[in-house]
Amino acid sequence: MDDTRQDHAAQTVPDYRLGVGGIMLRDAWYYALPAHALARGKAVHRMLLGEPVLIGRTADNKVFALRDTCPHRGTLLSKGTFDGREVECSYHGWRFATDGQCTAIPSQCAGQRPQPQDIRAQSYVVAEHQGNVWVFMGTFMGSGKVLPPVPEVPVLGDRFQMHVAVTFACNIDLAVIGLMDPAHGAFVHRSSLWRKADSIHEKHKAFSPLPEGEGLGWRMDRHTASRNSRAYRLFLGGAPETEISYRLPSVRIEHARTPKYNYCGLTACTPVTADVTEVHHVMYWDLPGAAALRAVMGPLARRFLDQDRRAVMTMVEGLKFNPPSMLVQDADTQTRWYYRLKREALAAQGEGRPPRNPIAPVTLSWRS
Ligand code: FES
Ligand SMILES: [Fe+2]
Repeated sequence: MDDTRQDHAAQTVPDYRLGVGGIMLRDAWYYALPAHALARGKAVHRMLLGEPVLIGRTADNKVFALRDTCPHRGTLLSKGTFDGREVECSYHGWRFATDGQCTAIPSQCAGQRPQPQDIRAQSYVVAEHQGNVWVFMGTFMGSGKVLPPVPEVPVLGDRFQMHVAVTFACNIDLAVIGLMDPAHGAFVHRSSLWRKADSIHEKHKAFSPLPEGEGLGWRMDRHTASRNSRAYRLFLGGAPETEISYRLPSVRIEHARTPKYNYCGLTACTPVTADVTEVHHVMYWDLPGAAALRAVMGPLARRFLDQDRRAVMTMVEGLKFNPPSMLVQDADTQTRWYYRLKREALAAQGEGRPPRNPIAPVTLSWRS
């Protein structure tokens, strides 16, 4: 199929009306929380894709995740206790190892059913990587599938600096397309440090599909950051080169570098429920003065994400009236790609085959 041509035509039926709106893709890694938020011997409740999840760290430093409902009567396990080794339910004291195996049912007499060995709480595959905790939200347990690689920033993996999170009251699709949109910067992030409306100029960016094995997504090839990326210039000095990759379900990784320094930003959207999305942004850098930079970057990043959140919420308000809307050439092409890839991922899952990346290398042009 001639994807490129199709992408270059304005499309007036938006993809979010074509059957993927808000679907929470399974069989994928989702960002749960920064690793530092999980002390040894602690366990916390999180909602991921509408499921209650208990995420903890054992006394010997292993991160685990269980469905946060007791297999006995459904009580939230997070309301019980965790001693660094086992979780005890607050209602009848059933105990669970961190792999979900039940280890004690205090009410049972000898010979009664069930015994602890008959019971398991549902567990999730988790990964602690580069300062982040990811949970694999699979389609079913014990599937024996080969897991996709855990999202990873290049070069700076051991330089985790900070994490900020903002909650968007919308489904994951609207959060993702709101963040990836290349044409809103001068309007939504209008401020002296970021962009000005009169700094808009024409851009041409080369894109390519992610190599096989790196997931379903695309990459904006390495290029010199545009002259209106003031923040980058101030931050890294000189004329940084950036490369941005996007991978389903929602991980955007940006790597900016000068001959001297590097910066990586990882942005990941995690559905809390079908209608609420947590946007996580993690920053890595190797510049000196990390503590002072964190003090500056924290509020800036939070403000930036909040500007995005407000822009998306304003769009959500309008979409309630079911207005006609469109995806234009080429500024909205990435939005269209996102929906196309998501449809492909869903179709491949339904048909039990590996997904095929429909994106072909192309240069996109827009003014921003
Ligand atoms: S509900 Fe958890 S032990 Fe009974
Ligand atoms: Fe933005």
